[in-house]
Amino acid sequence: MKIYAHRGSSGTAPENTIAAFREAASLPIHGVEFDVHMTKDGELVVIHDERIDRTTTGSGFVKDMTLGELRQFDAGSWFSADFVGQLIPTLEEVLEVFKPRHHHINIELKSDVFPYEGMGDKVVALVERMGLTDRVVISSFDHVSIRSIKRTVPQIETGALFVEVLVDAFEYGQRIPANALHMALPASLRPASAEAMAKGAVVRVFTVNEEQYVDLLLKTKVEAIFTDYPERMYNYINRKS
Ligand code: G3P
Ligand code: MG
Repeated sequence: MKIYAHRGSSGTAPENTIAAFREAASLPIHGVEFDVHMTKDGELVVIHDERIDRTTTGSGFVKDMTLGELRQFDAGSWFSADFVGQLIPTLEEVLEVFKPRHHHINIELKSDVFPYEGMGDKVVALVERMGLTDRVVISSFDHVSIRSIKRTVPQIETGALFVEVLVDAFEYGQRIPANALHMALPASLRPASAEAMAKGAVVRVFTVNEEQYVDLLLKTKVEAIFTDYPERMYNYINRKS
C-alpha cells in the first residue's frame, strides 16, 4: 500500500508549509498531497482552509488578500516555536521542492466552497511549464473542475474526492471521468467500496493516522493512504510486509 504525506508531513511540522514538504520529500514514500487556493491577485497558494485564521497569525479569507498581504503572516508558530518564520507557500515553491525528487504529487483544488474562476487552468499551465504533467494527480471535492481539467488535458491524472458511501462509485468515477476515487476512511471500509474496487476503481483513502486502520485497509484493494505521519506509517507498513 502506497503512502502520500497529507498536507506534507503535517503531524510533525506545520501543515502545507515548506518545512512539512521538505520533510516529506526526504522520505522514501510514494507521494505528497496538498491543498490549493487562489489569492485576490490571482496567485496560487498552498493552504488548507478558505480562511487563514487557523494556521497563520493573520485573519480573513485567502480570496480577499493579495499574495503580498498573505506573506506578512507567520504560518509556523501556531504549530510550535521551532517553525517560526514559515510562510504560506506558493504552488510553484512547493512544486520546486518535489521536482528533483521521485514523489507523485497530489494537488487538491479547493474550489468546492469558492469557485476561484480560472484556478484549474492556472494550475495545469504551471504543472506543464514545470514539466510535471506525468507526475501529478489533480483532485477535488469539486468534480465539475476535475471534469473540465480532464477535457482540456486528457493525459493529466485526476481524482474525485468524496466522504459519502456512494452507490455505484466505480460507475460514478467513470462518468466524471476521473482516474481515481479519493475517499474518506469510513466510506472506504464499506462493502460498496469493496465492490467498486473489485470492478477496477483505483482507491486512495484519507486520512489514516492509526495503525489499526492500516491493518484493515491492507486486507482490501486500496491503492494508497494519505497520512499526517508518513514516516511512522512507512515504517509500520514495511515491518509488516
Ligand atoms: O486529498 C485528501 C484530503 O486532503 C481531503 O481532505 O480536508 O484534508 O483536504 P482535506
Ligand atoms: Mg487535502
